[in-house]
Amino acid sequence: MDAYITSNRELWDKWAEAHVTGSHYDVPGFIAGGNRLHSIELEEVGDVSGKSLLHLQCHFGLDTLSWARLGAVATGADFSPVAIEAARDIAKEYCLPATFVLSNLYNLPDNLCGAFDIVYTSYGTIYWLPDLPLWAEVIAHFLKPGGAFHIVDFHPMGMVFDGTEPGLRLGYPYFHGDEPIIEEVHGSYAEADADVHGREVGWAHTVAAGHHVQYGFETIGPDVWATDAPQMGFAQITAVSTTPAVPEPSSLAFLATSAIGLLSFRRNKKS
Ligand SMILES: C[S@@+](CC[C@H](N)C(=O)[O-])C[C@H]1O[C@@H](n2cnc3c(N)ncnc32)[C@H](O)[C@@H]1O
Repeated sequence: MDAYITSNRELWDKWAEAHVTGSHYDVPGFIAGGNRLHSIELEEVGDVSGKSLLHLQCHFGLDTLSWARLGAVATGADFSPVAIEAARDIAKEYCLPATFVLSNLYNLPDNLCGAFDIVYTSYGTIYWLPDLPLWAEVIAHFLKPGGAFHIVDFHPMGMVFDGTEPGLRLGYPYFHGDEPIIEEVHGSYAEADADVHGREVGWAHTVAAGHHVQYGFETIGPDVWATDAPQMGFAQITAVSTTPAVPEPSSLAFLATSAIGLLSFRRNKKS
């Protein structure tokens, strides 16, 4: 497992370097006062001013800094030294108040103290994580009793298509397996022409319909959220919204990849 994490970290180091100077993340636009957060998470998370917020898998920090600009006492964490250094540099240079912690997600309790009002993670998260119950434990560890966890991410259905050729072709598993999905990578999701070559190791995590009903959820979400949430001391506070962002009936794959799911949980006050 360590070899997989190391391989991913090497890739993310290269991607972080390419993304800081690339056009997709638009660092100059952010520095000029932009906010990188979308309405779906802004509306869901609500007023963050004065609240402590831990952003997991924060990449090079623009979203964390966006929360800080909205008044959150923000901490970002990521396992890529290149990303964390870039985040710290941007925060320092532009006097933006946020703290950044370098850590593999699973070791974060060893590298960060404190409890947070909000734990947040977004857009490209659990695919990189082999073990969701352990991930949930980390989240529970950092949430204050009564605090809220929010995740916004792409619908996993969007991950099953082979996008290398035209047409709708299944290329990847939908269901979680012990073996990871391993891919050679050229370029990046944000900068297709970046001079980056590496190996990506990911894990499928499914969306379950049945479990939600069992727990009174009207949502999408990986099994673990629905089945383990009560045991982890979470109660779900809101329903999910899926947004087929752009109507494009000719391309089912496009619709699937455009679907965004959002889940929120509140940690029970007693646990
Ligand atoms: C797609 S990015 C998240 C996107 C982010 N919301 C953004 O738009 O900037 C995924 C992040 O997860 C981080 N990551 C992947 N595996 C990790 C792990 N095991 N521990 C900590 N961070 C990890 C990567 O370094 C990367 O920054």
